[in-house]
Amino acid sequence: MIPSNQRQLVQSTWRIAKRDADGLTRLFYGRLFEAAPAVRGLFPDDMDDQRAKLAAVLDAAVVGLSNLNTIMTDLHALGERHVAYGAEPEHYPVVGETLLWALDKHLGEQFTPEAREAWSSTIDVLASVMIHAQECAVG
Ligand code: HEM
Repeated sequence: MIPSNQRQLVQSTWRIAKRDADGLTRLFYGRLFEAAPAVRGLFPDDMDDQRAKLAAVLDAAVVGLSNLNTIMTDLHALGERHVAYGAEPEHYPVVGETLLWALDKHLGEQFTPEAREAWSSTIDVLASVMIHAQECAVG
C-alpha cells in the first residue's frame, strides 16, 4: 500500500510531468537503451507507439493509486504479456532506476527527495505485481 501523502506527491508531480509525456518517455527510453543496450532488441524499431503506451499505463496507474484494486487486474495482465516480450525479473530494477532518472531530469527542482521516495515506492509496487504475474505465467 502507498501511504496517502506519498500518493498525493506522485499524483501532483505526474500532473506536471504528463504535460509533456512524450518528452519524458523519450528521455526514459534513450537512457534505458544506453544503460541496458541488450534490451534494445526486445523493443520495436519505431518507438512512437511504445512511448504513448507507456505514458498511458503510467497515467492509469497513478490515477489508480487511490484504489489499487482497480488496477491490479490490468497490471497483472501487463506483467503476463511481458513474458512474451522477453522481459526478465532482473530487468525491472534498471527500468525503475531509469524512470526515476527521467522524472528527475524532466521535473528538475520539482522532483524533491520526498517526491523521489514516493515514486520509488510506487514503482516498486507496480514492478512487484508485474514480476509476480510473470512468474505465475512461467510457472
Ligand atoms: C514498471 C514496469 C513496466 C511497465 C509499467 C511497462 C509498461 C509497458 C507497456 C504499457 C507496454 C505496451 C504493451 C502492452 O501494453 O502490453 C510495454 C511493452 C514492452 N515492455 Fe514494458 N513495462 C515495464 C517493465 C518492462 C521491463 C522490465 C522490460 C524488460 C526489458 C520491458 C520490456 C518491454 C518490451 C520489450 C515491450 C514491447 C514489446 C513490443 O511491442 O514488441 N518492460 N511495457
